[in-house]
Amino acid sequence: MITFLFKSVMKFLYPNKSSPQQEKISVYRHSDQSLNLLNITHDFGVGFTTINMEDLKDAEFKEAWEIAIKNNPYVYPKSFIYRDYIVAAIAKNAMNLNGAFLFIGVSWGCAAQLVLKLCKPMTKNIYLMDGWDQSENPNSPKVESYCGDYDFIQRMFGSYQNVKTIKGLAPYALDCIKEENFAFVHISIDSNQAEVDSIQKIYEQCVKGAFILLDCYGTNNSGKGWTIESKKKLKELGFTVIPFLNGQGLLIKT
Ligand SMILES: C[S@@+](CC[C@H](N)C(=O)[O-])C[C@H]1O[C@@H](n2cnc3c(N)ncnc32)[C@H](O)[C@@H]1O
Repeated sequence: MITFLFKSVMKFLYPNKSSPQQEKISVYRHSDQSLNLLNITHDFGVGFTTINMEDLKDAEFKEAWEIAIKNNPYVYPKSFIYRDYIVAAIAKNAMNLNGAFLFIGVSWGCAAQLVLKLCKPMTKNIYLMDGWDQSENPNSPKVESYCGDYDFIQRMFGSYQNVKTIKGLAPYALDCIKEENFAFVHISIDSNQAEVDSIQKIYEQCVKGAFILLDCYGTNNSGKGWTIESKKKLKELGFTVIPFLNGQGLLIKT
């Protein structure tokens, strides 16, 4: 009976349109395929909520993003704009903290370029860590579009005095920066084990309030993203990730 009444009210309010819930689902469908799976099995209680993405139209952000994606020689999915906006917005918040920025998993450096352009004045140390050579990384799926051109990285970031590139794999390569404190850590690699180990290793070096943003925490495509076991392991270690609907996850150092 209640369902019938609800449906009638919705039909009256939205006679020829899809309900707000359907609209929301289609918005997310465009931004990340994996959300189809989530939306089918979970009720997010969004029946009375519509969303807008006005923030993504911010001119300064749009300009910086267009330049960053053009620097990537492969086709960069337009739908990543929301994901990249989140990176920039969190990094901007982290500017108020006393600590360096660290990117683990850089590839062509889209996220790092955005942060460098949008977080000003950037006086912090910025560390970029990646193997930039997939043949040296047996634990990650091979992806053609990932950067294996270290010269490109040097050309792109070499002129920034405060940017330091670390050609090596986490968690081991983190030993090079044991003395640093971090305000923002972006982890964007495809190996759950390396991510869990890196979080454990880096957490003590994070200042209070620091942000650790996990790019693939909730994604569910081509073997990337976190397995249930890895999520359980992180929880057992005492970490509570804030999961976003687009697949990113956030930890805040408390
Ligand atoms: C999804 S891409 C990163 C995209 C990047 N965040 C951007 O802004 O475009 C993943 C990258 O992680 C790197 N990677 C994989 N395992 C790694 C590890 N254990 N440590 C560091 N980098 C790793 C790969 O070489 C690849 O370049």
